[in-house]
Formats: sequence, structure tokens, C-alpha cells
Amino acid sequence: MARVRLESLKKHYGSVRAIDGVSINIESGQLVVLLGPSGCGKTTTLRCIAGLEQPTMGKIYFDDREVTHLSPSERNVGMVFQFYALYPHMNVYENITFPLRACRVPRKAIETKVKEVVQIFQLGGLLRYKASILPPGDQQRVALARAVIRDPNVLLLDEPLSALDEKFREEMRSELGKLQKRIGITTIYVTHDQREAMALGDVIVVMKDGVIVQMGSPEELYEHPQSVFVGNFLGTPGMNFVECLYDNGLLFLEGTEHRLSLKRSDLFAKLSSYQGKEVILGIRPEYVSLFEKSFENGLSIAILAIEPAGRYRLVDFLIGERVFRVRTDWSLPLIVGHKVYLYFSEDHICLFDRSSGEAIVT
Ligand SMILES: Nc1ncnc2c1ncn2[C@@H]1O[C@H](COP(=O)(O)OP(=O)(O)O)[C@@H](O)[C@H]1O
Ligand SMILES: [Mg+2]
Repeated sequence: MARVRLESLKKHYGSVRAIDGVSINIESGQLVVLLGPSGCGKTTTLRCIAGLEQPTMGKIYFDDREVTHLSPSERNVGMVFQFYALYPHMNVYENITFPLRACRVPRKAIETKVKEVVQIFQLGGLLRYKASILPPGDQQRVALARAVIRDPNVLLLDEPLSALDEKFREEMRSELGKLQKRIGITTIYVTHDQREAMALGDVIVVMKDGVIVQMGSPEELYEHPQSVFVGNFLGTPGMNFVECLYDNGLLFLEGTEHRLSLKRSDLFAKLSSYQGKEVILGIRPEYVSLFEKSFENGLSIAILAIEPAGRYRLVDFLIGERVFRVRTDWSLPLIVGHKVYLYFSEDHICLFDRSSGEAIVT
């Protein structure tokens, strides 16, 4: 298991910039998630690390050894894709030992390794079954066992759970997280599913259009998004946004008669250059409280819709032209069409530059 370092990695296909300057440092044993919408360059990044693509520019290191120009087999990486690509005519034993037999590892050493992975992935009763007749979750375990049996430097997983149905995907996700910690193998996990990323990642790298837009712990990304894009992409539902005009400690919410008066002095300092300008206020659905009675800084707005969601309800409002969602418990009686008072927790207000979408305060 190795540290993995990507230095200004680029991969261009003609005029398509699949990845355009990606630099990441991954500690040994860490699980790093590459997260982003379809087409943002996640798979291309993994394929470059595996040696299946030659980068246009940039360097790749495993520990202090540069591997940029090594063949896939010289790099010793384990890979699992969305479709596990097991050999259907082989049984489980033959599938998981294939990488070792292909490198002519002695039989005794193979048996020792098989015992080990069979125990880790709980494949004990399955070794003689044809891979193709197993249920998807078992096939996934076989694919993982095959990927790690050679003690790879790094494990690369490309949307490995997306072919499973939702309930099962959650089970496998938690199992996978535990296994990764137990084996302690450096892992790069690709997904477009922010919930999966939040649940699994020690570090999440958010990508868009071939570049990294933010990287950090799940908490950092959730609480302190550095852009409207990240605030919106993470969270179920994502962050709410409202266009505002800033004037001397007041935020005038566009398209409404509402205004908020800010109390936090650190906000004034950061907003000083935005005097008289437009900014975007961002706040997560759980940091807005609803009240029946009026009070300072409470915005009186009619309820547009109510959606029960287990312990909580999602309550929709219209602010300006945007739907604004609040997550609340069941204590307050709420009726569609009736007005309630919204109160924004000022500690959790984020402000973004209107034209760039970059954070001013998070
Ligand atoms: N072999 C290729 N030839 C041309 N364009 C490609 C090739 N592979 C990927 N791309 C393009 O590079 C971009 C990133 O693709 P990919 O890495 O597969 O994204 P993701 O895995 O995040 O969905 C996309 O615009 C895709 O169409
Ligand atoms: Mg992909």
C-alpha cells in the first residue's frame, strides 16, 4: 500500500480536456473519493493512475517512485468497475486466483492468499460456484477479492455500487467502508453520488469540467463550501440560495420585500467591498427555523408545499423566483398556503460572489 501523488495531471483528447491540471496527495491507507457530475473526468483520472491512459502532461507517484510511464502490470493496482467483469465461465476460486496464476505465483503462496481473502470477504461457501450465477452483492465481493489478492499499491474503484438497487447499495457501502479500514489499503473511489461520497470518504475531491473545485473532509465540504456549485451538489436537498443586495449590514432579498440585518461583525469586514452590490446568500435546509410568531429578522412567508421525510418534513417556500427548502421536525402545525416566520441561523449563513459563485464567507 502506497502514498499516491498526482501532479498537475492533464489528459486531453483533441480539443476535449477530460482532465485539466489535477493535483492530489493521498496518504497511505486513506480512502479518497473523487466526486462530480458525469463527464467531469473521474474515470479518466483513475485510468491514468492505473496506467490504462497515458496523461498528456503531469506526473504520478506511488510513494516516491514515479510511475507515469510504467505499464499497468508494473504499477500493481487493483481495479473494480461498475460492472465487475468477472470471468463468467470460471468459478469463484478461479476468478480470485486469476491475477496470481497469471503471474505464476507458486501454488502454496496462492493457497495462503486465498485463505486470507476468503476470510476477509466471507467467500467461504462460494469457491466452487460459477461467478455468473451469484447474486450481485456476492459478485461484487468476488471482484473486490480479485482486486486485492495481489496486495496492490492502490485500490481503484469506479462507481462500484451503481449497478445495485438502492437498499442493497447502502448495505454494500457500509460493508465496503469497514473492509477498506480493516485492510488499510490506499483507495480511490469514484462516484457521482454525493451521499456515497459523504459516507465513505476520509477526503472528498469535488471535480467539475476536468478540474478540482474543492477538496476536504466531508464536514469541511458540507459546512464550508467554497462555491455555489459545491453547496448545491452536496446535501439532500442541497443548500438554498437567495440573491441579495448588500447595504450597510443589511441584506435585501431580491424579488421580495424582505431584508435581513446581520449581527456578526466578521461578516461586515468580509463584505466591505460588496457595499451596494449583489451577493448570493446560501443556507442549508436544517439551519432555518420556523415559528408561528413574529420576531426580529423573522421573514413571514407562505408555505408552498410540505413533503414528509421520516423524522422530518421538507417545507418549501418561494423566495424571489427560487424554491427555498426548510427541514423541520413535526412539532409545529403547518398548513400549505399559511404564512410562518423563517429564521436563518446567522452562524450558518454563507455568502457568495454573484458573478463568480465563489465564497465570500462560509
Ligand atoms: N477516449 C476518449 N476520447 C474522447 N473523449 C473522451 C474519452 N474518454 C473520455 N472522454 C471525455 O472526457 C470527459 C471526461 O470523461 P470521464 O472521465 O469518463 O468522466 P466521468 O467518469 O467523470 O463521467 C468527457 O467529456 C468524455 O466525453
Ligand atoms: Mg466515469
